[in-house]
Amino acid sequence: MTNILVVGSGGREHTLAWTMGANATVYCTPGNAGIARSARTFDIKENDFDGLAALVRRNEIELTVVGPEAPLVGGIVDYWHDTGLVDQGHLIFGPTRDASQLEGSKVFAKQFMAEYGIPTAPFVIFSDPDKADQYVGSLLHDIVVKADGLAAGKGSIVCQSLSQAETAVDRIMRQRKFGDAGSRVVIEDFMPGEEASLLVVCDGTNHHILPASQDHKPVGDGDMGENTGGMGAYAPAPIVTPKVLRIVESEIIQPTLHGMNQKGMPFSGCLYIGLMIDEGAPRVVEYNIRFGDPEAQVVLPLINNVSDLLMSAAQGRVLDAVVTPRYTAACCVVLASEGYPRTYQKGFPITGLDNVSQDNVSQDGVYVFHAGTKEEGSQIVTSGGRVLGVTGFSVLDNPEQAFRQAQGKAYQEVPKLRLEGSRFHYRTDIGDKALHHFS
Ligand code: GLY
Repeated sequence: MTNILVVGSGGREHTLAWTMGANATVYCTPGNAGIARSARTFDIKENDFDGLAALVRRNEIELTVVGPEAPLVGGIVDYWHDTGLVDQGHLIFGPTRDASQLEGSKVFAKQFMAEYGIPTAPFVIFSDPDKADQYVGSLLHDIVVKADGLAAGKGSIVCQSLSQAETAVDRIMRQRKFGDAGSRVVIEDFMPGEEASLLVVCDGTNHHILPASQDHKPVGDGDMGENTGGMGAYAPAPIVTPKVLRIVESEIIQPTLHGMNQKGMPFSGCLYIGLMIDEGAPRVVEYNIRFGDPEAQVVLPLINNVSDLLMSAAQGRVLDAVVTPRYTAACCVVLASEGYPRTYQKGFPITGLDNVSQDNVSQDGVYVFHAGTKEEGSQIVTSGGRVLGVTGFSVLDNPEQAFRQAQGKAYQEVPKLRLEGSRFHYRTDIGDKALHHFS
């Protein structure tokens, strides 16, 4: 069996470990309490490249899969190449530091899209907050103010009034709420439509498109309240029709890979395209350079050969991967700590896990992916904002029935999971938006 290392500690990394564990021996660092059931875990931080490299050599790891964006933007893939690991057969799945600018710099991404004619919202870039204020004062439509750099998913602020726009500019550029990430902003027109996420496994030249999914970023039902890292997701997302997918492939994916090649930064790894689809026309909201979370929880279980696919991509031959379908639909409901996405307490024991989670979900069923959990003595306790991803699966052929079954299974199990001394909060409408696309 291939030895694979997953770097990270969230629900996405648990999903990577769980799906790849079918055909590989999986190691993970730093991991969490759930990942420890699917993989051998270690206590090495994701930005400790020396420590990770030593682990890889010691355990004869053939492929390292990096979950979060920070080590990729920080150059972990370049480190693997520069220190000879790749030449010695220790491959890595992910983009280089240069290619990671597609997520690491909104300014880079928007200028790139403009240069290659990739459909996105019109935008202007500012490095002077007074000029940004002047600009927003002249506008009569809704806008989005985006910090240039990484901001843990909180750096894009939708503004529906002048005062909201001025506050956004102030928070990002003057108060530096996201540090240096706010030294420049992109201000773009608000795009109407419905969002979807497309995860595309790339090898620098070629690509393999995974089933489309839909995230639910706002904290409350009906998309109300503050944005989070994602309160749930489902796949496949029927808003991405075969026709929309053809447009995305020819107008977005191919020009992106071509453009990155032309710039001398071939993109290898998972290209996450955040889409806004309005009356069948897709435009790019953002690029990310890694699997989405919680999108990974509903997309990766839909195929059988995740480890082969990622290994083939890291070898530069993604088209050789034989990818067969597994589940026909999946729906993930995130259980979050009380107070998330604002302040919350940690350390509450979780009960009910043994009544739900299974390591071998054979047909339709439910699996609980862990995010912010850790073991404390004999208990599993909360250690983060997003704690668990209760994920229902289906193998039914009919897309609507499959979706309804996956959603029903997830929500049937959610009440079994509880916290001692606190309570989970979760959305009760994950996936409901899919329903009007079926009729
Ligand atoms: N779910 C949004 C993200 O992964 O960025």
